[in-house]
Amino acid sequence: MNTTQRKLIIAIDGHSSCGKSTMAKDLAKKINYTYIDSGAMYRVITLFAMRHNLIKDDKLDESKLAHLIDGINITFSYNDELERHETFMNGELVEDEIRSLDVSNNVSLIATIKFVREKMVALQRKLSEAGAVIMDGRDIGTVVFPNADLKIFMTADVEVRAARRFKELKEKGDDVSLDAIRENVQKRDFIDENRDESPLQKADDAIVLNNSYLTKEEQLEWIVTKMAEIQ
Ligand code: DC
Repeated sequence: MNTTQRKLIIAIDGHSSCGKSTMAKDLAKKINYTYIDSGAMYRVITLFAMRHNLIKDDKLDESKLAHLIDGINITFSYNDELERHETFMNGELVEDEIRSLDVSNNVSLIATIKFVREKMVALQRKLSEAGAVIMDGRDIGTVVFPNADLKIFMTADVEVRAARRFKELKEKGDDVSLDAIRENVQKRDFIDENRDESPLQKADDAIVLNNSYLTKEEQLEWIVTKMAEIQ
């Protein structure tokens, strides 16, 4: 078999807001692979829980969510006109809403729940059945695809990550402060790394990329080189 035609699975894990999805999307476009945003799935469940008033004072009504979760249909499609990947919750376009600071502030709570993770992992594997997939998240190389062909663990300095997210949300017109974003990033790091269920960990065979001082183009070049090395 010609290895260049193998349909690889590429796992990109790492800290919040360090540019995983930017690199994953850029690579997917360049090599014509499918990009799957696993974080968007946890964000959809969070938005659903918020809309149904299942989160109060940082507490989730788990039994209600368990009862309703099978009614949440998550789909993705690529919008050619806007040149962006879009996320849908039961057919409704929620791409912008799931990126709000409100959802970001609640998503870690949802991502710690075992039955939510089991559902999301099953969906992630199903969507990847055909291969030729790049998926980013926190547990892709450790839990979802422990046999992924290439595993990257990305990180960047907290200050750099907060500044990037601040710029992104400001450009969208969100009224947010840099301090609130930094706090959110640090809190999510802590919860992601310390939760019982699938904590954020570098897989033993993952390659580390700290992109604090890399441009988008430089990080793409870096991963294209890594791809070439395994083909
Ligand atoms: O990548 P992101 O910031 O959009 O992810 C949103 C949240 O979902 C993040 O705080 C951690 C969680 N997450 C997770 O637990 N496992 C994944 N595979 C992806 C995201």
